[in-house]
Amino acid sequence: MAEAALTTFARARRRGRPLVAHVVGARPNYMKVAPVYAALERSGRVDQRLVHTGQHYDRLVNDVFFNELPLPEPHVQLAVGSGNHGEQTAKALDGLERVFLDLRPDVVLVPGDVNSTLAAALAAVKLQIPVCHLESGLRSFDWAMPEEHNRRLTDHVSSLLLTHCEDARENLAAEGIDDGRVAFVGNTMIDSLMASLPGALERAAYARLGLKPRGYLLVTLHRPALVDQADLLARTVAAIAELGARIPVVFPVHPRTRDRMFQLGLSPDGGVHLVDPQPYSDFVSLMASAAGVVTDSGGVQEETTVLGVPCFTLRDSTERPVTISHGTNTLLGLEPERLTTIPDLLGDRHVARIPALWDGRAGERAAVALERFLGVRQDVAVGGPLLRAAVARRPD
Ligand code: UD1
Repeated sequence: MAEAALTTFARARRRGRPLVAHVVGARPNYMKVAPVYAALERSGRVDQRLVHTGQHYDRLVNDVFFNELPLPEPHVQLAVGSGNHGEQTAKALDGLERVFLDLRPDVVLVPGDVNSTLAAALAAVKLQIPVCHLESGLRSFDWAMPEEHNRRLTDHVSSLLLTHCEDARENLAAEGIDDGRVAFVGNTMIDSLMASLPGALERAAYARLGLKPRGYLLVTLHRPALVDQADLLARTVAAIAELGARIPVVFPVHPRTRDRMFQLGLSPDGGVHLVDPQPYSDFVSLMASAAGVVTDSGGVQEETTVLGVPCFTLRDSTERPVTISHGTNTLLGLEPERLTTIPDLLGDRHVARIPALWDGRAGERAAVALERFLGVRQDVAVGGPLLRAAVARRPD
């Protein structure tokens, strides 16, 4: 599988430059990696390859994002697909090991906390290839979440840990991770958001549904803890239907959620617009102009904080507490009935502070940290003292 997917171009290397292999697999990875990839490309000090595990494969949750972000078509495409966690992670581990044996990268960059992230980190570390974890140090402290396993294990095998908020460093220190491996570079997903925002606002995606700015709620739900529990999902859909009777609701339905709703025959009607997963700029448009957002996603909690849009998170925990302390996020708990209070909460003023280094330049700082790690850059002033920790050296 892996051998067939490797093109001659993927193997070709320019002499003298270290090789960075970026591994992506699922939708949120693309927005995180794109600014780093683009910054490294501009700098020209390293060679790069983009490896896609194929964890996400539908056009609507995958292909459309590559058209909108500064990412090339993947140089290597695996076909891991869906499956149980062990099966999906194992397939990715097997495929990625073969790819790394062939490419021999000098560092493997893995973003976020999806199954592909952990698989890539394991495959690399077992070949003694250093791992760089982008968005390191997040903790929900909820061991029932597959993402919590992925992020913790990945952090502990990484040589360079790029953090995006201040509490991440504390979480890593509490687990005994050497501070010299940690660099606070900021939130690269917010770089992507800021870059897409002007175009997204022009798209006015809400108008296609006959809606007005601030005249609707946006809903996204996909976590197994919610959508794989028949009773919880049924109560959630009922609460969304009740909300829809008071204020229009736009609900782009993730493939996992769509399948579960179909199996259970659940379909809110009335004021609820059930739509396909949205391309990035349309989703940003819907989010930026919403009166409020209901979600169980991690990235959406961050994006709404920067956009100043009230966010209501249908989870018991968040690995992104800064979106509550600084931002617009309210943790509702896994209590769908609380959704019906949202129309009364929308009038509350949310004075959001944008967290440090969520400034649209995190990709540049991440690129500098990687270049320093690889020993191809010493001259750094970008971010000044904020990058002082980005001195971790590649083990010889
Ligand atoms: C994964 C991540 C989650 C991330 C989310 C973003 C893990 C453990 N979870 O969850 O952290 O927030 O991606 O979407 O890695 N499916 C399709 N087409 C696709 C992909 C998935 O139909 O292109 C369906 C399949 O029925 C599959 C289900 O969605 O069984 C779940 O996909 P999976 O990759 O297991 O995880 P997500 O729920 O998307």
